[in-house]
Amino acid sequence: MEDIIEEIERLKRERKAVILAHLYQPEEIQEIADFTGDSFGLSRQAARTDAEVIVFCGVRFMAETANILSPEKVTLLPAADATCRMFTDTLTDEVRRARAAHPDAVFVAYVNTPAAVKAMADICCTSSNAAAVVASIPEDREIVFLPDGNLGSFAEAQTGRQMICWHGGCPTHMGLTEADIEAARAAYPGAPVLMHPECRPPVRALADYVGSTTGIVKYAMESEAEDFIIATEEGVLYELAERCPGKKFHLASRHLLCVNMKKTTLEKVRDALKTLEPRVVVPEEIREKAVTALTRMLEIAP
Ligand code: 13P
Ligand code: SF4
Repeated sequence: MEDIIEEIERLKRERKAVILAHLYQPEEIQEIADFTGDSFGLSRQAARTDAEVIVFCGVRFMAETANILSPEKVTLLPAADATCRMFTDTLTDEVRRARAAHPDAVFVAYVNTPAAVKAMADICCTSSNAAAVVASIPEDREIVFLPDGNLGSFAEAQTGRQMICWHGGCPTHMGLTEADIEAARAAYPGAPVLMHPECRPPVRALADYVGSTTGIVKYAMESEAEDFIIATEEGVLYELAERCPGKKFHLASRHLLCVNMKKTTLEKVRDALKTLEPRVVVPEEIREKAVTALTRMLEIAP
């Protein structure tokens, strides 16, 4: 009798599918994935893969990005209701109004946005390349950065550019406080604090390293330290344990959990492979505009 993992492996071969999983996914999902990574790494994989079906274990904006970059493939999002708190449809109206108010500005959209917003932007960015994207824009151009004001201010600090940053943000990361970091430092003296740029600026000021999920893993792998305080979503602990055997990782707070990232289950992955549903299909008139902003981003190294 086949167990569920064997069934997924068999269906994956039959469907010529690839499983991509974000580093915030549950451990059992990261274990069955062909590729794990941050938003940038997974977009690059989605653009390159020669599989016929992409099973995206993550949230909707990631699956939409895969479909925009590889429209000829079937893109499946096993957890169809997995969204991101920054992913709101009202954003399109706000971007339209901002475009009218700043007709000459360059609009940078964080990838955590609906495809329709990417279609209205000039260039996208992820948490790993926000500063590189901003630095690529000519100095004399006004920049509107949306919707994550915390990532925007991080890119400002790194590049020395001033932008019109919106005030959106990720509730998981914004909940982290200065007191959390001080308590973690007191509990684990000497352990470097590795943090995601979606955290608020005063909290970020207390970090030793700020970067995307992949950046955090890379930093921990290369560091001489043996204990680390991790200030991002708890799913990353799985990859850290895999990549850094013998090192210890302590979450900066018990509340670093994204419920949407935890909606994927092995059963949903299996059923998606069986039925080729639920699919994510970005309408062609939106896709052909959104692909420009995403392709420009992919041309810029993280
Ligand atoms: P990464 O760019 O590190 O993958 O982050 C995506 C995200 O949703 C962070 O909350
Ligand atoms: Fe969105 Fe935050 Fe969840 Fe990332 S952790 S998917 S930014 S809600």
